[in-house]
Amino acid sequence: MALTGPPAAGWLTVSLMKSANRVEPLPGLVGHFAERFGREPTIVTRAPGRIEFVGNHTDYNGGTVLGAAIDRAVWVAYAPRTDGRRRFASERGPQIVERKAGDLTRGEGDESWINYPLGVLAALPEFSLPVPEGFDYLVGADLPPGSGLSSSAALELASGLAFLEATGTATPREVLVKVGRHAENHFVGVPCGILDQGVSGFGQARHLVFIDCRGPRFATVPFPANAHLWIFNTHTKHALVDGLYAQRHAECMAAARGLGVELLADIPLAALPERIAAARPPLPEKVEKRARHIVGEIARVDACVVALRAGDVPAVGLLLTASHRSSQHLFENSTPELDFLVDTLIARRGVYGARLSGGGFGGSMMALTDDIFGPADAAEVAAAYRARFGADPEVLHALAADGAQRVR
Ligand code: GLA
Repeated sequence: MALTGPPAAGWLTVSLMKSANRVEPLPGLVGHFAERFGREPTIVTRAPGRIEFVGNHTDYNGGTVLGAAIDRAVWVAYAPRTDGRRRFASERGPQIVERKAGDLTRGEGDESWINYPLGVLAALPEFSLPVPEGFDYLVGADLPPGSGLSSSAALELASGLAFLEATGTATPREVLVKVGRHAENHFVGVPCGILDQGVSGFGQARHLVFIDCRGPRFATVPFPANAHLWIFNTHTKHALVDGLYAQRHAECMAAARGLGVELLADIPLAALPERIAAARPPLPEKVEKRARHIVGEIARVDACVVALRAGDVPAVGLLLTASHRSSQHLFENSTPELDFLVDTLIARRGVYGARLSGGGFGGSMMALTDDIFGPADAAEVAAAYRARFGADPEVLHALAADGAQRVR
């Protein structure tokens, strides 16, 4: 089990476009950039991963969601070139992938990660933003990829911020977030909502990010004092995860059409039974379940905000576990591994609630705990998981951290 504790110091709040030099680049990144490219980077940016706190698949249905940026991130080191060559490198491999300015040919296989920065370069003109010509680029991360913690959104935002800084463009945080989502939707090809990019962009230390996805409108809500976030990454991923996400998206849109609304967020929870009964033709059972999950989940997010503001952490925990049950039985995007972790965790002392986090079909889950739940408890949960599934989950005690920023 890779058990990681929180770092000694929390992140400092730094406004997006200011080079405050107060958060250090990922250790080794600047030196590795110099080794690969023969000079120092002029810009280093950082964008965090995220945990979905509550609001499962509500974002693209126009609903509300709560997330937290975590103290694990993606960093991009960057220096401009004058010859129009764009050279992309990653700390994860020795290759340098090269494209000429203007050439957006997608990367394949081991090189497919460049589709995230390429997608951002392709998105910038859509927002009337300038595009940098040539550059050297090195990405590094302490955020595990493919773990349901949104390393892809973090990569999009760290890249987008580096490109904007390189062209001296001051842009509101919201635009950076939209550029990242545009890259994901149109270049990478995943029909995701605004959650991942919004939380990576608007994160704030010791706060949750609230998003009303219809606006979108972003706000922060203080994270409860003395409460803790524990993340368990199952390292499992359904083989068809991207297709299943798209299928859920399509089922939600079919539910909205069948109920005569543009998006499921248009239906208040109290009106749902009547709307379902009146639907002609009747909704197929599966589609009805998706609608019940989404409309109920939006109500849970809103109830969670009320409970957080009232300092009622036990009530927040119950809402988190109720969210998991809804994902498990109505949205049907949980797995035996995630259900096992939720069931094991909520039976322990000090756990307020637990749920799957993110798209589902594998990936990570989270628990909200109080002080009496510590590393020894997490290790026991991991041991129970290993006894059942024969593999170790990765465990992370995460802090709510600041959003995307330039660090050099
Ligand atoms: C993934 C997507 C998000 C959101 C969640 C589910 O993380 O990228 O936009 O839909 O799944 O809530």
